[in-house]
Amino acid sequence: MSVIVSPSLLSCDFANVQRDVEMLNNSACDWLHIDVMDGVFVPNISFGLPVIEAMSRHSKKIMDVHLMIQNPDQYIADFKKVGADILTVHYEACTHLHRTIQAIKAAGMKAGVALNPHTPVDLLEDVIEELDLVLIMSVNPGFGGQKFIKNAINKVEKLANLIENKGSSAIIEVDGGVNLETGAELVKAGAKALVAGSFVFNSANPSQTIQDLKNLK
Ligand code: DX5
Ligand code: ZN
Repeated sequence: MSVIVSPSLLSCDFANVQRDVEMLNNSACDWLHIDVMDGVFVPNISFGLPVIEAMSRHSKKIMDVHLMIQNPDQYIADFKKVGADILTVHYEACTHLHRTIQAIKAAGMKAGVALNPHTPVDLLEDVIEELDLVLIMSVNPGFGGQKFIKNAINKVEKLANLIENKGSSAIIEVDGGVNLETGAELVKAGAKALVAGSFVFNSANPSQTIQDLKNLK
């Protein structure tokens, strides 16, 4: 199976969201990556529910929503309502992670957990079988356009082992500083889905860049 490509709309032109979503609809991408930041869990604020509802209205792709917020539990139903298909919460933001995962699934979405660069993959040992996705952060969350943290490749390898040993069907997704070079290394290490923001939207031909990422083996 080819790699899943999830362009991050954090790097789109917010004055032309419909245009950019339609460009992605016509591209080879699989998912749309939607970054929600609350200014508390991360030192930045992005956008919230009404903007995601507008993106969903135009999107023909799977909505891959990445919550960088404290206490995500209280908003699970709201994100389902505005069109989230996959809902990913941060390990570091959830006191009762198991309960949060069950609530996401009960609301009819796929459940993901994201790990900050300093958070070891072993901490997912007792919950990995419940997960549809694990998002390895290869930058400190909060901003697009940051430098790739190389240790993410080791984490992908370790996580791939954990998933295999536990017989989990979780997809490994990686987010931050992804380009053709880092993407190739990540896919070799076992990543099945790649998020790319600035690399796609700052390129001369975003559709072609998405196709190039899709072709990584
Ligand atoms: C960072 C976000 C990313 C961001 C990635 O906190 O989670 O999804 O958009 O941007 P790039 O691909 O530019 O590193
Ligand atoms: Zn993200």
